[in-house]
Amino acid sequence: MKDITYINNKFIEHTKAKVSIEDRGFLFADSIYELISVFNKEIIDTDQHLNRLNSSLKKIKIKYNFNKKKFKKIFNKLIKLNNIVNGYIYIQITRGVSERKHEFPKQYKPTTIIFTKHLMINKKIYKKGVKIITIPDLRWLRRDIKTTGLLPNILSKQLAVEKKAFESWFIDGGNITEGSASNAWIIKNLNTIVTHPANNKILKGVTRDTLIKILKKNNFNVIEKPFNLIEAKNAKETFLTSSTLSVLPVIKIDNYNISNGKPGNITKKIMHLYNNYIDKNNTSLSKELKIA
Ligand code: PDD
Repeated sequence: MKDITYINNKFIEHTKAKVSIEDRGFLFADSIYELISVFNKEIIDTDQHLNRLNSSLKKIKIKYNFNKKKFKKIFNKLIKLNNIVNGYIYIQITRGVSERKHEFPKQYKPTTIIFTKHLMINKKIYKKGVKIITIPDLRWLRRDIKTTGLLPNILSKQLAVEKKAFESWFIDGGNITEGSASNAWIIKNLNTIVTHPANNKILKGVTRDTLIKILKKNNFNVIEKPFNLIEAKNAKETFLTSSTLSVLPVIKIDNYNISNGKPGNITKKIMHLYNNYIDKNNTSLSKELKIA
């Protein structure tokens, strides 16, 4: 069975879905996106992702007839058609096709594409934890917008891979902001968890927001404030979050071991809490994710 993709009100074979070379998403990255995880056929935090999608559209002033119900219908249809059990839904909206001029076209039809992908869960990284490197944050100052203009993120992730690390954490004015495709966290002591405040310097992760709620419910003290590299290296434990990775232990920062180079017990507990949240049906498949 061939995968089906949604493009501008049509469902077609994935490989046949095409956009114009004059699409502003292609020419200028005049475009925003969302990525929503699917675990055991359940779409995780749909409303939060759709709210952020709508907010990104408004922030870059794309005029769009936003309809949550319609998006949800499309998601469900694609998941069924493509038989997604574990994977993700990718949504991208651009300012459409027009002659290449920097200013907005007077009239335009936004391009909308939505596709799904299967995702294999790499159990090893959750058991062993991952290494990260740090890198200067050279991005623009509207990182709160989920734009497809991701060159600094791509370059920093590539550098991590070249250095045999999993992810890069950006440093801005001495503080760690976030990862190239994830949010960064430190565990200061048994009960205190710190992550960068959700301002213009980071993307306000949906996983981040959900986890803050879960942690508070479970009597953790969550502090949203910037932290620096020394604080991260001296932390009891560290971890990262994203829709595709959930909660992932970080055990090395720039070759410096955190919690003896192994996932710590508090991180394991947090992974357990988050995995229970996404595993609403308590399936054996998502149980595999639980390492605690
Ligand atoms: N990235 N920060 C950045 C820069 C990101 O790209 C992401 C997610 C996050 C975490 O956000 P969320 O919890 O909503 O996934 C933080 C996605 C997964 C990506 O681009 O592939």
